Amino acid sequence: MKALTWHGAHDVRVETVADPVIEFPEDIILRITATAICGSDLHLYRGKVPGMKDGDIMGHEFMGIVEDVGSGVTRLKRGDRVVVPFTISCGTCFFCEKQLYAACEETNPARGAIINKKQIPPGAGLFGFTHLYGGYSGGQAELVRVPHANVGPLKLPEGLADEQVLFLSDILPTGYQAVLNAAVGPGSTLAIFGAGPVGCMAAACARLLGVERIFMVDHHPYRLAFAKATYGVEPINFDEDDDPAQTIIAATNNHGVDASIDAVGFEAKGSTVETVLATLKIEGGSGKALRQAMAATRRGGTVSVPGVYSGFIHGFLFGDAFDKGLAFRMGQTHVQQYMPALLEHIQNGDLKPEAIITHRLDLDQAAEGYRLFDKKEEDCRKVVLTPA
Ligand SMILES: NC(=O)c1ccc[n+]([C@@H]2O[C@H](COP(=O)([O-])OP(=O)(O)OC[C@H]3O[C@@H](n4cnc5c(N)ncnc54)[C@H](O)[C@@H]3O)[C@@H](O)[C@H]2O)c1
Ligand SMILES: [Zn+2]
Ligand SMILES: [Zn+2]
Repeated sequence: MKALTWHGAHDVRVETVADPVIEFPEDIILRITATAICGSDLHLYRGKVPGMKDGDIMGHEFMGIVEDVGSGVTRLKRGDRVVVPFTISCGTCFFCEKQLYAACEETNPARGAIINKKQIPPGAGLFGFTHLYGGYSGGQAELVRVPHANVGPLKLPEGLADEQVLFLSDILPTGYQAVLNAAVGPGSTLAIFGAGPVGCMAAACARLLGVERIFMVDHHPYRLAFAKATYGVEPINFDEDDDPAQTIIAATNNHGVDASIDAVGFEAKGSTVETVLATLKIEGGSGKALRQAMAATRRGGTVSVPGVYSGFIHGFLFGDAFDKGLAFRMGQTHVQQYMPALLEHIQNGDLKPEAIITHRLDLDQAAEGYRLFDKKEEDCRKVVLTPA
């Protein structure tokens, strides 16, 4: 089959590789009909996350048709059409019982990413996301093996196009969890840092839940303009305004917003010192977006962090967080927990996640898709790939 494989920073290729096979009774083999490139894939593409090996198949946002089922698969049969969560979860461990699927203790045989780990097992294995997260082959391919198929894949009703439901695999639940974690609702004020796909899905879900005022910070005018037109956000371009938090505070009676969402993560732009230290591996990444999110949030408010971080952030003003009495919620998304409710919102027209798609390419053009999404060329917001 054909698959998008990783060979080093900025070097991904579509190659012919061996077809996946059933390895465990609860596996299925899925024939991919649509797959997307995520902002998380860009961290791997840029060589910023350890644990990738030459030839690894990438991709964790995908859907398709069940091609083959293992002997222990009870919920699916050949020919079923499903969308697959990026989190691989067993469904029965301590954390899966609590619906904390991204914390599943059973699906990642690797060490995981925590530094001060003690004896706790790592969280869930993830598709196409380094050997730190289990080294599972991803779905930017013609076929993929999906383990624990009784727990993950969501069967789709008739009448919905791939583009409408594809983002149930990751960014839509991620935006939704970010808003739930932010504890906002009707009448609330919210600041979202990052106008990428995750920031936009968060804005859509915030609107769905009745949030009154949404500020959105980024430096790509085309992304901010789209979010303003589509979700009614108040855009702030940090290339023109070097202190968006101050502007947000001024616009909220010098209080700050009820909550902020950091939909940027450790590759945040704007701190040269941290960017250099991160390159030298002295720092785990840039804390620029996180500091802005904390500064923009009112006393007693919440900072919700879907953006990915790992290791140290030295410039983390914990005393400011204490003084303001901030709450923090963060982490990988417990995708399976939110999929059914979000599917209903798509069916009844409340959510139209497909609106963010700008590029539809053949799987063969995946390397070009990565380049466009990384460089933000051609006003790229989201790339969907389809195998021929
Ligand atoms: N928690 C999860 O389960 C989960 C799931 C999916 C993605 N993510 C993470 O969410 C983050 C965003 O993903 P995406 O797909 O939207 O990626 P993206 O790279 O397309 O978007 C990030 C946006 O942040 C902007 N940005 C950079 N520095 C900024 C700053 N200082 N202030 C404000 N904005 C800034 C960029 O211009 C870009 O538009 C990534 O870190 C990704 O890994 C997490
Ligand atoms: Zn992702
Ligand atoms: Zn589990």
